[in-house]
Amino acid sequence: MKKLIKNNVYWVGKVDWELESFHGSDFSVNHGSTQNAYLIQEEKTVLIDTVWRPHSTEFVDNLAKEIDLDKIDFIVVNHGEVDHSGALPDLMERIPDTPIYCTANAVKSLTGQFHHPEWNFRVVKTGDSVDIGNGKKLVFVEMRMLHWPDSMATYMTGDNILFSNDAFGQHYALEELFNDKADTCTLWEEAIKYYANILNPYSPLVKKKIEEIQALNLPIDIIATSHGVIWRDNPLQIVEKYYEWSQDYQEDQITIVYDTMWEGTMQLAHKIGKEISKISPDTKVKIFNVARYDKNDIMTEVFRSKAIAVGSPTVGNSILSSVGGWIDFLKELRFKNKKAAVFGCYGWSGESTKILRERLADAGFLVVEPEIRCNWNPEEDDFSKASDIARALCE
Ligand code: FEO
Repeated sequence: MKKLIKNNVYWVGKVDWELESFHGSDFSVNHGSTQNAYLIQEEKTVLIDTVWRPHSTEFVDNLAKEIDLDKIDFIVVNHGEVDHSGALPDLMERIPDTPIYCTANAVKSLTGQFHHPEWNFRVVKTGDSVDIGNGKKLVFVEMRMLHWPDSMATYMTGDNILFSNDAFGQHYALEELFNDKADTCTLWEEAIKYYANILNPYSPLVKKKIEEIQALNLPIDIIATSHGVIWRDNPLQIVEKYYEWSQDYQEDQITIVYDTMWEGTMQLAHKIGKEISKISPDTKVKIFNVARYDKNDIMTEVFRSKAIAVGSPTVGNSILSSVGGWIDFLKELRFKNKKAAVFGCYGWSGESTKILRERLADAGFLVVEPEIRCNWNPEEDDFSKASDIARALCE
């Protein structure tokens, strides 16, 4: 069932309450999600994006109940990732000659995934526009690397709607669609998680793109994302947040991440947390066992932090795989301007702190000198070093 967004613009997407993870199993989803697609019925009938492949039949059937599919003048594909393009093959079987407006890179991603080079692609770049009648136009803005090379946004003049695709989205299921109907805490928690885990590596580009769009001075009444809420109440609030998040964002918070074999390294983690709290009572401290806690939610806390401390015992002349795998992910997200400290227990050879130090430096962190390298179980001398770490991270 289509839902009204504004005038002749409707939502025709999927509210996906069952989604538990995204990007395979790489992104945990705790509040469902939406795949937002839009139908514009001006003098021209335009479909903007589709939904994920498992919902393809449902999507095409629902769309066919709303309109004669042959009446669709063209489709806009803002981004070729399959959560938005997944219903294209089924749809194009029904309307094979319909033009698809997208970037040159989206022709590559769509053709690579669906193997239909014969589709009627119309390549667009920033500033290109197409009339849709009633004095309104769609204007295209390339959003390269936000977050794929093929990404773009589409701006509708007259109604002042920015169809932003992934940018400004969240994984958050909401039948009521609009941000003023959302649970505010959940909305912002999901928005920052989405930014930290997906967009953070491209922060310099986010900043530049926002400045570029602001310079155009376009009136924006609605930001119609492809995931989560449609921003209609003060839509620029999410743009302002993205601008803030894109500039080496940090709060007065320190996050401690560890795994432990026989609880020695866990005791060090807790002691470091207490020392931080003693030295800097206003600093928020968060402590996570990386093997037991959601890795994406930990990343959101790292995003908020000015510093982290990472601990692992030595095992097999190395570190625990839970910590090693997590640091791979940490590197991928390209955090900047954050300090890190290392700690860990060992029985025999004791390489873990050296390895942690190297791996965190390689991930872009400024690794401070004090560390705790503790032989067997910690005692007073080991615990006393926690205050050195706390001081170095709080400075
Ligand atoms: Fe929501 Fe990049 O796909």
